[in-house]
Amino acid sequence: MEKIILDCDPGHDDAVAMLLAYANPNIDLLGVTTVAGNQTIEKVTHNALAVAEILNMYNVPIFKGSPQPLVREIEVSEEIHGESGLEGAELPIPSQDIQEKHAVDFIIETVMANEPNTITLVPTGSLTNIALAVKKEPKIIERVKEIVLMGGGFNTGNWSPVAEFNIAVDPEAAHIVFNQEWELTMVGLDLTHQALATDDVFENINNMGTKTSSFFVDLLKFFQKAYKENQDFVSPPVHDPCTIAYLIDPTIVTTKKAPIDIELNGSLTVGMTVVDFRQPIPEDCNTHVAVKLDHSKFWDLIYDAIKIIG
Ligand code: BDR
Ligand code: CA
Repeated sequence: MEKIILDCDPGHDDAVAMLLAYANPNIDLLGVTTVAGNQTIEKVTHNALAVAEILNMYNVPIFKGSPQPLVREIEVSEEIHGESGLEGAELPIPSQDIQEKHAVDFIIETVMANEPNTITLVPTGSLTNIALAVKKEPKIIERVKEIVLMGGGFNTGNWSPVAEFNIAVDPEAAHIVFNQEWELTMVGLDLTHQALATDDVFENINNMGTKTSSFFVDLLKFFQKAYKENQDFVSPPVHDPCTIAYLIDPTIVTTKKAPIDIELNGSLTVGMTVVDFRQPIPEDCNTHVAVKLDHSKFWDLIYDAIKIIG
């Protein structure tokens, strides 16, 4: 059983990550923390509470995190996620309150209070909260089991020709997170562009005919339209739950060990995750890159999660 904290910015695919992390019996979701990204911190935090309501997830605390990147102005992804950050489905009124504690303090306290090497951090938004946690309490670095994040890529970008959104909007935070001595797996666009919600995926979820399945179909339909209009995808890539799927069953995601660093100074390449695939791999390399997804095993996990919620 993997104990995780999901640090996210819901967001359509973040909502699917919440579903999978909460419903799958191999994941112990200790808390959800939010970070500004797909929309403002107020909106994504509200969305996290609304998704929790859909999932009947009342036993997992939700913490609000950073309202802005470390040094840059906030940029949101309205064209993909809409004005609310979670357009397409009707959002219930949350009955759960947001926790008073700041997300960064929850992350630090949880990592410090648990046995070393037992807590995995799963960021699926920008890395602002995780970078702040490192700066506030560097002892977390040796205690965290691993970081499995959605962000980056080695073949293409989506916010610029070479930079992916989560990294591009707070590259300084990413630079801090990628340069610590902890095990880190980058589940980037090369992998998540294989996690397509194809027609048969829509059909399978739709056929379940439950409240939860129709919520996710509505979300994914909006996501599909947005991805068609903005990036010319026929089927939308459902990025964020790939991190959780990897933790549930590492055979679903093939990874390669390779050094990764974040470009901060390029005039065209800020936010690029520069992956060094040259051999030999340096002995102190502690970063891994996701390269191949088992599409059917991935979606089977999502179907099971929807069925479990009912
Ligand atoms: C990432 O950016 C966000 O829009 C998605 O939620 C995902 O985390 C994909 O680039
Ligand atoms: Ca996200």
